[in-house]
Amino acid sequence: MFVKALFSIFLIFSSACILIGAGTTIKPYKNSSKIESLLNQMTLDEKIGQLVQYSGTEPTGPEGKIIDIETEIKKGKVGSLLNVIGIKNIRKMQHIAVKQSRLGIPLIFGLDVVHGYKTIFPVPLAMASSWDMDAIEKAAKIAAVEASASGIQWTFAPMVDIARDPRWGRIVEGAGEDPFLGAAVAKAQIKGFQGDNTAHFSTVLACAKHYIAYGAAMAGRDYNNVDMSIRTLWEIYMPPFQAAIDAGVGSIMSSFNDVNGIPMTGNKKLLNTVLRDRLGFKGFVVSDWNSVAEMIPHGYAKNRYQAAKLALDAGLDMDMVSDVYQQELAKLLKNKQITMKQIDKAVRRVLKAKFDVGLFDNPFIYFNEERGKALVLTKEHRDAARDIARKSMVLLKNKDNLLPLNKNIKTIALIGPLADNQKDLLGPWCARGNKKDVITIMQGIKTVSPKTTILYSKGCEINTSSTKLFKEAVDAAKKADVIIAAIGEAEDMSAEAHSRADIDLPGVQIQLLKELKKTGKPIVAVLMNGRPLTINWTNDNIPAILETWFLGIEAGNAIADVLFGDYNPSGKLTVTFPHSVGQIPIFYNHRQTGRPHIGDDNHFVSKYLDIPNTPLYPFGYGLSYTTFRYSDIKLNKKNLKSGETLTASVNITNIGKIQGKETVQLYIQDLFASITQPVKKLIGFKQVTLNPGETKEISFVIKPSNMEILNQDMKKVIEPGDFKVFIGTNSIDTKFAKFTVNEK
Ligand code: NOJ
Repeated sequence: MFVKALFSIFLIFSSACILIGAGTTIKPYKNSSKIESLLNQMTLDEKIGQLVQYSGTEPTGPEGKIIDIETEIKKGKVGSLLNVIGIKNIRKMQHIAVKQSRLGIPLIFGLDVVHGYKTIFPVPLAMASSWDMDAIEKAAKIAAVEASASGIQWTFAPMVDIARDPRWGRIVEGAGEDPFLGAAVAKAQIKGFQGDNTAHFSTVLACAKHYIAYGAAMAGRDYNNVDMSIRTLWEIYMPPFQAAIDAGVGSIMSSFNDVNGIPMTGNKKLLNTVLRDRLGFKGFVVSDWNSVAEMIPHGYAKNRYQAAKLALDAGLDMDMVSDVYQQELAKLLKNKQITMKQIDKAVRRVLKAKFDVGLFDNPFIYFNEERGKALVLTKEHRDAARDIARKSMVLLKNKDNLLPLNKNIKTIALIGPLADNQKDLLGPWCARGNKKDVITIMQGIKTVSPKTTILYSKGCEINTSSTKLFKEAVDAAKKADVIIAAIGEAEDMSAEAHSRADIDLPGVQIQLLKELKKTGKPIVAVLMNGRPLTINWTNDNIPAILETWFLGIEAGNAIADVLFGDYNPSGKLTVTFPHSVGQIPIFYNHRQTGRPHIGDDNHFVSKYLDIPNTPLYPFGYGLSYTTFRYSDIKLNKKNLKSGETLTASVNITNIGKIQGKETVQLYIQDLFASITQPVKKLIGFKQVTLNPGETKEISFVIKPSNMEILNQDMKKVIEPGDFKVFIGTNSIDTKFAKFTVNEK
């Protein structure tokens, strides 16, 4: 309540709107493509205005005071808006900024275009499970085409936070637990959003978020504190941000959390020294929603005046909705607490972004309704959504090859709260996605296997205690040849402010599965969820389990493609599935202890009494309808000098009966070092498609940088000694070979 009362400006579009084209029309941007000359013309209020962002009518955070936004824009006191809906509204605001404010500086419009704008793709965690960087880039590119055709120039994506705690709801928004994969996905997304030229009207400016360590919220509770070693920060959480910066990301969002006691929005060392000087970031930094003001409840700023100073001093350029910059920067300047140089620096960065996205060349190019209509939700976009949706599914279990189902199968009992569901399949953060555009599983099966009779029953709700629909579901199941149970979480059980302490299937869904099992009919569990789940009972009792996450508008078609074998599943987990919440945090790239749990008979080892150390499903895991055999690893040399490269190869053979795609994973371990090292570290992956009986050699070049560690002085070095290289189908099932690095 405290937060709500204090902050967050919620704009209103006044009914007495100013007609487009009315008022004074000064267009100095036409004559001054140079930021400096514009800066010279700006008053202090206008400068501060560029650092201020307000929200439109669909808030994505706590709502606050209502202001007359049109008047503020006219005065030049707004730099950016987020969450403004519809080209008409956006154009109206832009007209006021460009035609009626003194200097006519265009606004930049932002939105959370996270996994599609109108054509909704799988949630990011799902897309990462495809390990297909081209498909991920394409999804981001299509999202950019649709968003920019609808008036948006800036997306608050990608979320590149590493997440090792499945209780944290926002795990769904990122690429999972691994820094190497996270970096690759970040790069692909930024390339997709920004293209080669951010000024092109079909690209959007990307925003890597949330800098930094937001994914490490203590106990998986969103917005919670982060207490972390500097080593873990650099080894695990920094690489995707470095990759984003190297890929030219235009903006970065500071995170809500503190890191070791200093809120990130006012963290000078990490926001300025590290981000700009060390990582080389050249764009602008926006706060998260109200996070400038939230330094007060953090107990870091005494009041809004001090919060503004801390944020500006830290290098925070734009204030998202807290209104603190608007209210406090001028006072701070007058009292000599900040300098004009600091303000100018931030304004320059914001103006540069506006120039970079082409807003000064043509501030209205984004508002062509015809183009908007033509480019949104096209067949080509839907096809791309279906393609990546197929690639994102992970086959967790397939006892006795229950899947794929034969299209001649007579009767299917389609049971579950997600079986004929449109809304939840969109997943969280679905921008302008409309549930009416979603293909449900029921519709997908009807299209893909038209001869099959479907007996549908909801069975239960996702998260209630009622069992009254059980009987109807069981009756349907008894009449069927096979049961497909579509179960999982609702879309609003993950993402921001949606952490869970119990991560099993919610409500009475397991009870429903138990009742269905009693019929003796084979069951395929189709899971939908935004995080790893602790599905032990399901794993022990249900013969086939397909993890489908939330796959977006083509979900039903894609799921049916996999269920009936039109697509052979190829996805691999990018997060570890635990047996129990008690194992969290559990991730594959942990360090070794002095008492590792190797055998079962030794008591004094690192273990639990009641659960195993091993995960339910490991990082990198995912089955196929075919089987791949890995040969032993061949190294081109076993001894090398520090700084030399090495080649590791394996032969992969498809020993099954159908074509399949395998993601071959490469890991490394430095066996002895001045800092204990992870038992395995992903350093590469390649995808290969093989026909039955076909063998291909897959080779990886292991570069010196892959052998580096951060030593005790936090310097990247290669320490001569023994290494292991692993190649395999997941992070546990691998072949390995040893090599030695000698002094130069
Ligand atoms: C808060 C979220 O943390 C952030 O990810 C999002 O971009 C902003 N709100 C704007 O919606």
